[in-house]
Amino acid sequence: MIGILDSGVGGLSVLREIRALLPQQAVTYIGDQAWCPYGNKSHPEIIERSFALSDYLIAQGAELIVLACNSATIVAIESLRAHYPIPFIGMEPGVKPAARLTKTGTIGVLATEASLNGHKFHRLLDAHARELRVITQACPKFVALVERGLLQGSEVEDAIAEYTAPMLKAGADTLILGCSHYPFLRPALEKKLPALINFIDTGAAIARRVADHELAPDKNPQSRLLTTGKAEPFSTLVATLTPELSLLCSAFSLP
Ligand code: DGL
Repeated sequence: MIGILDSGVGGLSVLREIRALLPQQAVTYIGDQAWCPYGNKSHPEIIERSFALSDYLIAQGAELIVLACNSATIVAIESLRAHYPIPFIGMEPGVKPAARLTKTGTIGVLATEASLNGHKFHRLLDAHARELRVITQACPKFVALVERGLLQGSEVEDAIAEYTAPMLKAGADTLILGCSHYPFLRPALEKKLPALINFIDTGAAIARRVADHELAPDKNPQSRLLTTGKAEPFSTLVATLTPELSLLCSAFSLP
């Protein structure tokens, strides 16, 4: 079984890629909605939650865990890998593909505050963006909108305008969706922003990295979706965000 975790429903943007590429694998997804958002939490808090959820997923039989959350990856993946014997696959803002795509030499990184403050993010910029102008922007409203299932309309458009204006003004032609919640706003972003803007989302690349592990197929390749929050708004939200997947949703609390 593949375990997947995120602060909430953002990681469903990664789950849908994993389901499409690996339909023969069972998946258990946890949205830590009782603690959402992670973006404004301290690094020790994010590390503590990542360990608690990983302990649970491993007790449930996870052979590999995907941190479908940039914030948890940037802050916690090194400690998780040092502690547990199973592989952890994380996601980071796609600075490398953005560096390849930009023509203006200016890129925008949309991510959480926790990610933008992380050492791992700054190492990523040092490795791939030394020659570029990088404009970063924390987007807490994006996470809150997606957690409400609000993917279009004036509130969404106002948040997009607020967060992207400085990077567009600086000449950015490539915007990194550096948080797993943001791909759900991609249609609204594409509608609102100039057509020549490139968007970078690393969900499909994460699914390919999971596939590289060549796990044995599961006899019952079911997806289970769990929330540390309330079952009802969660299952409605899952149906709104990933209607293409028919999934079993329930709430649970960590022991
Ligand atoms: N979806 C997460 C990420 O990729 C965290 C969003 C949040 O909870 O602030 O960073």
